[in-house]
Amino acid sequence: AALEQQLKDLQSFQVIAHRGASGHAPESSMAALELAHDWGADYLELDIQMTSDGELVAFHDGTLKRTSNGEGHINDYTLAELKDLDTGSWFNDAYPDQADAAFIGAEILTLEEVFNRFGQDARYYLETKSPKLNPGVEAGLVRRLEAYDMINTGRVLIQSFDQESLLKIHELNADIPLIQLVWYSPDEKNEARLTEWTGVTPGPEEITNEDFLAVAEYAVGLGTNYLYDGEDVINESFVRQAQENGLAVHVYTVNDTDEMQQLIDWGVDGLFTDYPDRLIELVE
Ligand code: G3P
Ligand code: CA
Repeated sequence: AALEQQLKDLQSFQVIAHRGASGHAPESSMAALELAHDWGADYLELDIQMTSDGELVAFHDGTLKRTSNGEGHINDYTLAELKDLDTGSWFNDAYPDQADAAFIGAEILTLEEVFNRFGQDARYYLETKSPKLNPGVEAGLVRRLEAYDMINTGRVLIQSFDQESLLKIHELNADIPLIQLVWYSPDEKNEARLTEWTGVTPGPEEITNEDFLAVAEYAVGLGTNYLYDGEDVINESFVRQAQENGLAVHVYTVNDTDEMQQLIDWGVDGLFTDYPDRLIELVE
């Protein structure tokens, strides 16, 4: 029943806190999650990767450099090694206006730490990030979701750019609602990346009902970008067509309130944002 309720809720507009309230606090940190949770975001969005000793952690980049004082690839390190890193100070340096001494020393979080903190009091929108670099991440994720009773209670969505990864999840547990991520760009070089990441849908101009229906076989929605190089890459009719073929449309990553409003006017089903406070104010 809870799972059915989750699917029903997905028919109304969803505020998805991208890496937590990552416009206000270091991305994927407990501080960013606490803010998004306090503000009442519908979902906490996190990218999930695997450590060299098989633990699951919330971290976006494949490498440590941008958002920590470490370097190299995250999956080359054990959890204990990663726990020594500071993933907060970079934020204070990059955004002095938002800096807070409390962010210094913020630790990379395991999925269990997130579940232990928010448990059944939040919903989670988890991405299998670069699953080819994180082999086994699907089984590890499903095992933890089952252990924390997150599936039957309708508390989780899984998203990926990688169709194979979603199909693996589906095979492991067919009750987990899935979101197929896509990245549209008119640029040929990026088109190649699109194919590599997803191999699922042609561009918004050429996409057919059959393409949408093929995704709807295993997923409840699409997560898509909307801008490339300042230009729209989707439009209202793309949104309608996806919805008519049974897919919810969630758009990433929208931080500007005028752009939020435009996408809401197009009828999208949810937005990923670093500023859930702005979006909540707009939709309330
Ligand atoms: O998961 C939706 C959006 O977050 C995809 O882009 O790079 O921020 O994970 P990215
Ligand atoms: Ca993501």
